[in-house]
Amino acid sequence: MIKMFVSDCLGVNEEGHLTIGGCDTVALAKRFGTPLYVMDEDQIRKNCRAFTQSMNEYYDGMGSVCFASKAFCCLEMCRIAFQEGLKLDVCSMGEYYTALKAGVPAKNCRMHGNYKTEEELYFEIETGIGAIIADNIEELERIDRLAGEIGTCPHVLLRVKPGIDAHTHDFVRTGQIDSKFGLALETGEAMEAVKYSLDCKNLNLTGFHSHIGSQIFDIEPFEHNARVMLEFIAKVKEETGFVTQELDLGGGFGIKYTESDNPAPFGEYLKRVSAVIKEKSAELGIIAPEISIEPGRSIVGATGITLYNVGAVKNIPGIRTYVLIDGGMYEDPRYALYKSEYKIVNACRANAPEDSVITLAGRCCESGDLIGENMKVAELKNNDTVAVLSTGAYNFSMASNYNRFARPAVIMIKDGKPRLIVYRQSVQDLIAGDI
Ligand SMILES: Cc1ncc(COP(=O)(O)O)c(C=O)c1O
Repeated sequence: MIKMFVSDCLGVNEEGHLTIGGCDTVALAKRFGTPLYVMDEDQIRKNCRAFTQSMNEYYDGMGSVCFASKAFCCLEMCRIAFQEGLKLDVCSMGEYYTALKAGVPAKNCRMHGNYKTEEELYFEIETGIGAIIADNIEELERIDRLAGEIGTCPHVLLRVKPGIDAHTHDFVRTGQIDSKFGLALETGEAMEAVKYSLDCKNLNLTGFHSHIGSQIFDIEPFEHNARVMLEFIAKVKEETGFVTQELDLGGGFGIKYTESDNPAPFGEYLKRVSAVIKEKSAELGIIAPEISIEPGRSIVGATGITLYNVGAVKNIPGIRTYVLIDGGMYEDPRYALYKSEYKIVNACRANAPEDSVITLAGRCCESGDLIGENMKVAELKNNDTVAVLSTGAYNFSMASNYNRFARPAVIMIKDGKPRLIVYRQSVQDLIAGDI
């Protein structure tokens, strides 16, 4: 029986072991140790191309695809995204620095965030970052002042919250009025920020940005967002004469974590949203702006898995069975944060019937340190390798050193060959900053 996996890059070999990118995961766990993040480069590149090709096909190439590096940020990933023609969406000095060090030109990067410090803004402006997505009026004042001191005029987009309530987890919904991100349409705050920006001498307002949330399956909220933003663009033109060059529609496209998740093909999103933009612009009598999108999870999420070693199985009769693994919330906090569901596989017997129901528990000193509950899997025993699927996004990038656990290594697979792209932290790394 070949299972239905959540990603094309996974399979099962003759020994019944789970494979990723054609590599035996049990052998990878032995060779590189566990916990281990494993990513499939061919699949990442395919996903990048699905977005760039659909931008060409449905929006006549009049737009850019920016990889939301917060999903998975390291030198090698920035290089891959750049080689595939994507820009880099960064939201901290650390992400920006990583992109620059990977050889991504400053003009191909765009800075996000609801609080960029003076130091960060100065560095971004001085190095000639491609665009700053401004979040509030105080920040516009800072950008204008610092750009004046440096003697330049950065491109700025205003982050707008369009008042859209996407159906996803509360913590990853960002388009509704009650959000810490961006400028509200309903209250007039966004229009006030437009007028403020147009009065600034040292910044060049080029357009608007909105991001309605993450892990969204329906295309309708994205279409709705495009309509709302175009209506705002038309209103801005009417009130101020400003002609918007660029509309950035953010990211948020859902991926498959479990067999019941049913995301639309990536191309379908741009097909439908492009049609809405063209139609609505014509109806409003405005020039259809260039567009940008910022996929993160959808580029890398389903291309990665995490491998663990099973250290013990604790059966509490009539209550539950805990399977203890050598990782935990320090390297995958998504269940603890959002109760996110995953599919797991016994990598040693990937074709065996899933006849156990278990709770996968980490080794942090927290009862809530779980990767999932009520997970179906082929019986797991001590020293088995267990794989958690679709961990390519917001796992490595959200990892911490809680309990002073060292962050796992990251392996990238290309053409069936694994290579180390981020080394496993050592205990020396953990005390490196201590005085
Ligand atoms: C502004 C912005 N753009 C893009 C993204 C990427 O979202 P996703 O990984 O769901 O595509 C995020 C995620 O939080 C974001 O805040």
